Amino acid sequence: MRTLACACLVLTACDGWVSKMPEIINETADRVVRPRSVTSSSLPISTFATPQPWQQLYVADDATTTLLGSERGLVELSVQGALVSRSADPVLGLVALTDGSALISNANGFFEWRDGTLRRSDLETALQSTDRLLARRGDVIWFARGTSLLRFDGSQLEAIELGQTVDALTLGAGPLSTVRAGSQLWALTERTNGFELQDLSEEQNDLIDAVPWGDAEISAITDGGVLWRRALVDGGVAWRHVSLTTDTEDPGATGVRALAVDAQSGAVFATADATLYRLQGESVTTLALPTPLRSAHAGRNGVLWALTDTGALRIGNTDPVTFSPRIATLGTVHCARCHAPDRQASFLPLMTIDDWRAQIDAAILATTPMGATRARMPADTTTTLTAEERALLIRWKEDGLQ
Ligand code: HEC
Repeated sequence: MRTLACACLVLTACDGWVSKMPEIINETADRVVRPRSVTSSSLPISTFATPQPWQQLYVADDATTTLLGSERGLVELSVQGALVSRSADPVLGLVALTDGSALISNANGFFEWRDGTLRRSDLETALQSTDRLLARRGDVIWFARGTSLLRFDGSQLEAIELGQTVDALTLGAGPLSTVRAGSQLWALTERTNGFELQDLSEEQNDLIDAVPWGDAEISAITDGGVLWRRALVDGGVAWRHVSLTTDTEDPGATGVRALAVDAQSGAVFATADATLYRLQGESVTTLALPTPLRSAHAGRNGVLWALTDTGALRIGNTDPVTFSPRIATLGTVHCARCHAPDRQASFLPLMTIDDWRAQIDAAILATTPMGATRARMPADTTTTLTAEERALLIRWKEDGLQ
């Protein structure tokens, strides 16, 4: 144990354990995971040219401010949609905090962006200036200190030793996260009695990146291919190739360069050439891009930020979809002629926001076409949902069913 500069803080050494390699079932050759449906979407794309191409991108995106960090400094997205420089110091880490401010780490230490100004952060008393900010969830902030991953909950600092320089941490929606340290990728699971580490690089060769997905699953990329690591009930794991088409002959995706996960919705983004794929449940949505992406970073409300050879892109809308008026209108047009009292499907009313909240997953599934087969709902052919209307249901769910 080691006491830090601030007397109240004690650095507790690793409460984590490296679990033995699980039994691996390699089904990669014949078992390819295929989506049940692939639909193309037309999300808005905003392009931001940068004077020089950025190598790194850090994003702090919340309801009031959008900050982007790179080795060229810190920029803010103004309400007019322009990138405005806030600091030229190379950014080493950037996260949005719960109160609408943002925390930045750069070569000079830790800073807070609050009410339009950049000032030194109190965190400097708890951390070393060379610690690098990685990610935040709730009140817990994660940092890298050399080969250690640090977890800071506001009063306690815990260190998990990984043996190689810690580069990146991707937090999932549940207890599972992934960590990249040097040439190694780890699955990190938070348990009540500490942290469990699993060496993903030992399970699969040539992993380039991995992101958590759902409660216990991981999507990964190897040299161009996409893999899905599924936890099995008996404690083993299965790695499978992922195809991004419904073609039963497709041996799996190739040319995928970047992965990102939207922790809010659990959707995984993968990008190959000039196409963006959004994987959620058993459906894939594709989006044609103006130019290939080099890296992808999830923002808020399903927005994706990405780097290209000439600048940055923002993909998707930032205004959340709300029940009134858009979902309510969709229901009136397509569903209410049957899903209402005294109608043929009165057992499952789709009238109020609570009706819709309770049925949203079933409604998304029922309105999604399966390959060439028309969607089950609407049950008649009087009306059919457009791709945009289906996307609206998915976005309403992602945006929190408000
Ligand atoms: C023409 C009448 C009709 C329309 C229009 C209609 N439904 Fe249905 N729906 C039914 C009937 C009948 C059932 C129960 C039998 C079945 O599943 O086919 C049903 C069942 C469902 C179910 C539950 C089981 C399942 O099949 O998944 C969901 C969810 C559903 N509908 C959603 C919707 C949504 C969302 C809309 C509007 C986009 C819609 N329905 C429009 C008649 C309709």
